[in-house]
Amino acid sequence: MTPSVELVGLNVDSPLSLPKGRLLQLLQGCMDSQTIEELRTRLLLVKELRPARSAEVVTVRFGLWHDQLRQIRESKSLDRARHYIKRMLKSFDEVKTPSFSDINLCRWQEYDDLWTDSLWQIDRRDRSGQHSGHYWGNFVPQIPHQLMRRFTKAGDWVLDPFLGSGTTLIEARRLGRNAFGLELQESVAQETWARVQREDNPHKVQSVVRQGDSVSADFRGLLDQHGIPSVQMAILHPPYHDIIRFSDRPECLSNQGDVNAFVEGFTRVAAGVSKVLQKKRYMAVVIGDKYAGSEWVPLGFLTMQRILELDFQLKSIVVKNFEETLGKRAQRELWRYRALAGGFYVFKHEYVFLFQKK
Ligand SMILES: C[S@@+](CC[C@H](N)C(=O)[O-])C[C@H]1O[C@@H](n2cnc3c(N)ncnc32)[C@H](O)[C@@H]1O
Repeated sequence: MTPSVELVGLNVDSPLSLPKGRLLQLLQGCMDSQTIEELRTRLLLVKELRPARSAEVVTVRFGLWHDQLRQIRESKSLDRARHYIKRMLKSFDEVKTPSFSDINLCRWQEYDDLWTDSLWQIDRRDRSGQHSGHYWGNFVPQIPHQLMRRFTKAGDWVLDPFLGSGTTLIEARRLGRNAFGLELQESVAQETWARVQREDNPHKVQSVVRQGDSVSADFRGLLDQHGIPSVQMAILHPPYHDIIRFSDRPECLSNQGDVNAFVEGFTRVAAGVSKVLQKKRYMAVVIGDKYAGSEWVPLGFLTMQRILELDFQLKSIVVKNFEETLGKRAQRELWRYRALAGGFYVFKHEYVFLFQKK
């Protein structure tokens, strides 16, 4: 279908607001048609509907809307065409959401910007607003964005016990989620608090930044101080043991003498988080492996195994490509040589483990 003059400039993702009353009337007319030819003729009127600013509108995505109209028009039988119209009518009126998100399953086709596959290839970091990417070892904002959109509802509380530069809190503000972050380093916590406050807060949500050790934290007590009864999601992005040394503090998970101590400390954080996470809600762990002493050390699977011994069920293991940092790029040749000589592969991925609290 060729878009008419008023619709020029819209791309497939543009929202199109159509007058609800008139739209329903025209679609009902199609449903009442006695032949497929009559239905197709009536459908032309639907196709001609133009954007409206009336009180009651139905918002559709331009590309999807045109695909759906084409599907109806190209139906071979009256029954099939009516089936598609019925489905469309249902999507305008009914709202069906999972218990853990705001995704309207009656309009699931409109969420194609949400990822449902277990391989995430992210080419470019989102650097908009207060997301700067300056903090060494931070994650790309697309990770908490995808997680919170799929596993939280507007107004939910999200807990991030390894706050760092506050990527989760910034993204939570944009999505209308309240968020609580704990960070061990005082200076980092302070700087992050200032940055989070500079980010717009269009949904008027609460953002809380606290300094403290997540391994020994009493999360219940901390949340109580802010009148938060429980959280509906947790996003954990710990140090990948000593790959990046975040601080010299003995409590720092990047500063643990060996892998066992790291896994032990991390497990204590997950157990503490679990106490304040609402049942049936999600916890995501973003973690990569390391290579030491000629051996691949599977930090991801080691920590995953310990979490499964707590009250969690594994829902997904997502593999995400590893961005090449400037330092790594310069050393690419060296790493290739090392891999060829040492008989191993160079890390190009990390994991997002997804757990649901039982
Ligand atoms: C991988 S970074 C998190 C980065 C964050 N996702 C971001 O986008 O900026 C891990 C953070 O955990 C902090 N950390 C390490 N051990 C901690 C502990 N025991 N309690 C709280 N924070 C800790 C480090 O200081 C570091 O900022």
